[in-house]
Amino acid sequence: MKFAKLLMTTAIGTVAVLGFGIGTAAAKGKVNLYCSAQEDWCQLMAKGFEKESGITVNMTRRSSGETFAKIKAEAKNPKGDVWWGGTGDPHLQAAEEGLSTPYASPNQANLQGWAVAQSDSAGGNTIGIYSGALGYGYNEDVLKKNNLPVPACWKDLLKPEYKGHVQMANPNSSGTAYTTLATMVQLFGEDAGFEFMKGLHKNINQYTKSGSAPIKAAARGENTIGIVFIHDAVKQAVKGFPIKSVAPCEGTGYEIGSMSLIKGARNLDEAKKFYDWALQADTQSRALEVSAFQVPSNKSAEVSPKAPKLESIKLIKYDFVKYGSSAERKRLLKKWDDEVKSLPK
Ligand code: F6P
Repeated sequence: MKFAKLLMTTAIGTVAVLGFGIGTAAAKGKVNLYCSAQEDWCQLMAKGFEKESGITVNMTRRSSGETFAKIKAEAKNPKGDVWWGGTGDPHLQAAEEGLSTPYASPNQANLQGWAVAQSDSAGGNTIGIYSGALGYGYNEDVLKKNNLPVPACWKDLLKPEYKGHVQMANPNSSGTAYTTLATMVQLFGEDAGFEFMKGLHKNINQYTKSGSAPIKAAARGENTIGIVFIHDAVKQAVKGFPIKSVAPCEGTGYEIGSMSLIKGARNLDEAKKFYDWALQADTQSRALEVSAFQVPSNKSAEVSPKAPKLESIKLIKYDFVKYGSSAERKRLLKKWDDEVKSLPK
């Protein structure tokens, strides 16, 4: 009898504890995270936040342009809450098209000027989380095997000997490739920039969906030169692949990787918690665990000595406002589709 009573008490206790546990988990809620950085970094962010906050994270990884298109398609019935990572241009376009919502995080005070400027230019609808310069990387072994010269400039990539040896992503889906297109227009002027893209097209073996895919293919020895953000090439070198990175001699563009809260987010409070957490120095320092060598936006976050040094790269004065505007991004992408992508090789 005593034993039965004890069992009952224990059972009630267990139910109570379980009930409390479930109740707490439910109270902590969930957040739907759209992520446009590298898959391993997206996973780290999702798991890290889940562990620290108790909020369940449902993460989906897609490239920058693809995520923009998804958020736009879902505008009447938003499924995402917060968009973290990816180049800034589609985040700015989302702000202009009313697809994101403004937020002033208390952690904004600890950020670099360029991260806050990104926010100011978009009425507080987005914020800079990292920065990185565009360039390319090549597989040293594959280059040697094919008796190819070492490239150093953008214009080197137009040489006929590189035919079939260069890979880049499609600027419609990829922020890296859109940055490439907008960089050429700013670096050489619109006409000469498009002539460059047409010349490059002759040497391109494949337009991939994701921006970093060309350098991953080069690391595997399936491609020779990949046009990517330099930090993505360094990541492959750090992993032990024979990849060298190039900051092109003419100068180059760069990105302000960004974060935005999605308009109509169903889990807005949780999304804001994620947003605040993502701006913290210790969160941003964790990028190094997955060899993500972008420059962090929090002034106190750790920067690896392996990270590309932006101050030693000839950067153009990239006009984020213009190239992140809805009309300009749409116009350039259509022009690239019509005048470059459709050309025979
Ligand atoms: O995480 C790597 C990275 O290169 C980021 O720096 C950049 O914002 C993002 O990927 C761009 O990816 P995509 O070109 O696929 O949109």
